[in-house]
Amino acid sequence: MSVKVKCLNPIAECGLEMLPEQYEITDDYESAQAVLVRSAVMHDMELPDSLLAVARAGAGVNNIPLEKCAEKGIVVFNTPGANANGVKELTIAAMLLAARDIVGGVEWCEANKSDPDIAKTAEGAKKQFAGTEIKGKKLGIIGLGAIGVIVANAANRLGMDVYGCDPYISIENAVNMTRDVTMVKTNEELYDICDYITIHVPLLDSTKGMLNKEAFDRMKDGVVILNFSRDTLVNEDDIREALQSGKVGRYFVDFPTPTTVNLPNTTVTPHLGASTQESEDNCAKMAVREMRDFIENGNIRNSVNYPNTDAGICQTVGRITILHKNLPKMLTQFTNVFSKDDINIENMWNKSKGNFAYSILDVCSPITDQVIADLKAIPEVIRVRAVKR
Ligand code: MLT
Repeated sequence: MSVKVKCLNPIAECGLEMLPEQYEITDDYESAQAVLVRSAVMHDMELPDSLLAVARAGAGVNNIPLEKCAEKGIVVFNTPGANANGVKELTIAAMLLAARDIVGGVEWCEANKSDPDIAKTAEGAKKQFAGTEIKGKKLGIIGLGAIGVIVANAANRLGMDVYGCDPYISIENAVNMTRDVTMVKTNEELYDICDYITIHVPLLDSTKGMLNKEAFDRMKDGVVILNFSRDTLVNEDDIREALQSGKVGRYFVDFPTPTTVNLPNTTVTPHLGASTQESEDNCAKMAVREMRDFIENGNIRNSVNYPNTDAGICQTVGRITILHKNLPKMLTQFTNVFSKDDINIENMWNKSKGNFAYSILDVCSPITDQVIADLKAIPEVIRVRAVKR
């Protein structure tokens, strides 16, 4: 059976080339089993019954209705880290642009290009573009995920004094981060001391508007704010006021909105963080790998609405996967179904994430239609799929 994949945005060719012949790129969203997406907003889209997986080639998932997908048994993946280097490089570039008026200097040369004495005039004019160095300045990083950690390492190598705050930092990210970073317990500790503050957290109800008046009031006068994560992490009215008063010296934001493009002392880029060939290729390849591992083996890696569950490649006669509610007695109900049909369960994995859970069962005899029907009949079960039978 062919697996239909709908691309809601252009996806890098090197990723699509990783789809073997049983996959087919389709224009027909209504019958697709998988969706590959970058920035297309899916909140108002119907979710077809055929749809098993949505893989986002990127980190942010605020364009996808995660809960609605989970309720419908659609696993949503993202690609954390795949575009981190692109975002890191732009963050570092923004700090250098904030420290020195490089853009003003370039514009001056352009405006004076017909001056035959430009070499001499430039020596007089250049003082208006002089700035500072980032070496020795204090950088505060809010969020030490894949991006925050490599921003920390790069800034440390450039001689900055780096402070980081992330109560949920993963072991992997902590291990990858230079020990020279000073960890603080609260964002407020960063606000008090840092010259540059960069934000690398996802947009959630709990993070929306987190840089607000209260935060700006605690910061050093003239602080530089960098936002390469999502526009609404920063309260737009409050940052306008802080920019007008000089409390915030400069704002770099990668999200043009009717408000951000009209803020004073602000440099806006058109969501360029991950717009590099390398990032687009990495994201496409990772999204396709995750999607294929789920379709072909039932494994979940880097999902944002179901628990990560890795059962490897099935070595037994059959494998059945069950997306279900995270409630008591689920496993008892599943095993009862198999014992009724005298099917031996060789291996079993069960993981939960919030209200949802996932079970993979490898069995020693062929999976019958009756077993599938009985599992589907359990009220708390959302979707049953025989990956191998
Ligand atoms: C991300 O969420 O990965 C970045 O903002 C880039 C993108 O949206 O593609």
